[in-house]
Amino acid sequence: MKVALASDHGGVNIRKEIANLLDELGIEYVDFGCDCSTSVDYPDYALPVAEKVASGEFDRGILICGTGIGMSISANKVKGIRCALVHDTFSAKATRAHNDSNMLAMGERVIGPGLARDIAQLWLTGEYEGGRHATRIGKITEYENKHL
Ligand code: RB5
Repeated sequence: MKVALASDHGGVNIRKEIANLLDELGIEYVDFGCDCSTSVDYPDYALPVAEKVASGEFDRGILICGTGIGMSISANKVKGIRCALVHDTFSAKATRAHNDSNMLAMGERVIGPGLARDIAQLWLTGEYEGGRHATRIGKITEYENKHL
């Protein structure tokens, strides 16, 4: 699995924590910043990373900002992206099992590094269940193919 990772200035610390986790798990990743010496705009990071996941260059993407909201809204504009905004471990497992989410967004002003790490680990290792969930995702894909 190859993961694309990015944050804005509001998510630098958790981004570093997730990079450490990916190293520990032996998962290949590229950190797309920000260098965050100044304040940046989250769409400038979310959209290119989402496009890399949508194109298949990366299998998954993880985005961090202050709330995770701006990153998730932006990523979900890209066709083929199912970016889950997650701040609890139940949802981390559920969104892999049910939504086959290919991107994860979290907010550093919402949760601490320990929980973010647990969420990311569950999300990275969680398996998609398919079955009835595939029908539902198929409806999203059908909409995308028709309208986007
Ligand atoms: C940046 O101040 C903040 O707005 C951003 O990190 C994020 O929370 C947006 O959704």
